[in-house]
Amino acid sequence: MVTYGMPRRYHVVVIPGDGIGPEVVKAALHAIEPVSERIEFEQVEAGLAYYRRTGKPYPEGFFEKLEEADATLKGPLATPVGPQGYRSINVAIRQRLDLYANLRPCRGYLGVSPRVFDIVVVRENTEGLYAGVEGRFRDQAYALKIVTRRGSERIARFAFDYAVAAGRRRVTCVHKANILKQADGLFLETFREVAREYSDITADELIVDAAAYNIARSPEKLDVIVTMNLYGDILSDLVAGVAGSLGLCGSGQYGPKTAVFEPVHGAGFDIAGKGVANPIAAIHAARLMLEYLARKGSDEALGRAAKLLDKAIEKALVEDRVLTPDLGGTARTMDVAEAIKRRLMELL
Ligand code: NAI
Repeated sequence: MVTYGMPRRYHVVVIPGDGIGPEVVKAALHAIEPVSERIEFEQVEAGLAYYRRTGKPYPEGFFEKLEEADATLKGPLATPVGPQGYRSINVAIRQRLDLYANLRPCRGYLGVSPRVFDIVVVRENTEGLYAGVEGRFRDQAYALKIVTRRGSERIARFAFDYAVAAGRRRVTCVHKANILKQADGLFLETFREVAREYSDITADELIVDAAAYNIARSPEKLDVIVTMNLYGDILSDLVAGVAGSLGLCGSGQYGPKTAVFEPVHGAGFDIAGKGVANPIAAIHAARLMLEYLARKGSDEALGRAAKLLDKAIEKALVEDRVLTPDLGGTARTMDVAEAIKRRLMELL
């Protein structure tokens, strides 16, 4: 329905998730309060805690609800290790909603992180070794790495389109095509084809082990990285480590109909319930969500709000030094959320 003359309202599903999830999601909603008055939030339970209570990992109609929403903001969902546990809900969400592109921007902040840099990992999110084609026969097990031209092309295009929209200069394809000549070879070949259409952006390539070394040694030299599912998963945690904490980096997963936003970190069971989890990753996830809703609704005001939220996060960290224990401070989760909210209100 189009309502002329009325500002658009957005419908967002919120999944608090497991472990520190409810704490950081609450903090993110608090921080964005000054700019979220046109968003209706609907809370939906899912995950390990929900499974223990109900015997099901998620409620009836779960995927349909996410698909119909404008976006979803979620906390981490724990996946038990081993064959007895249920299969990852995160992977199921990606596959059911065809969330093929995973954007993971991560910055190192001056005086807070060991290094200052600004890297964006674009990860192919539905294929590769996470396609779920696995088996075991007696003492042998296998996992198939599924790579399609369609999947490789759309992720390469997503990375270049993002680079253009965000004013970035370089997109680096990370692969292991020297060894995996077919699977990674197809990914790289497709990247090279797509790169030719974007003459304003420099396209280059790195083998995944060299990419890990470069991220650790000179992160400031990297810009946008586009890579396959497993490499992207691992490298984005490495980037977060170089930034100083997993609690600093947010993530957006985009499909044809909707998108799902979350912190890159997991359930952090070792610190859950203590009120000390770093909420910045969840707040960055909420920022990516505002950007996405702004694009979806051609909503300039919301787009501006997302930019100001980014500035507010930086000010609270670098100038106010409201830092949780993972960054060497003593602030609590909600102190950080409150500091960012205050800074955001000043900037508006
Ligand atoms: P984790 O990310 O939960 O924890 C690794 C370490 O980082 C822990 O010491 C933790 O305390 C710390 N950490 C994580 N987030 C933090 C934050 N915001 N502030 C301060 N410290 C933070 O990784 P782990 O232990 O491997 O995974 C725990 C569970 O989370 C697993 O069941 C896993 O499946 C799930 N997980 C879910 C994800 C998702 O929903 N997207 C992503 C990664 C893991």
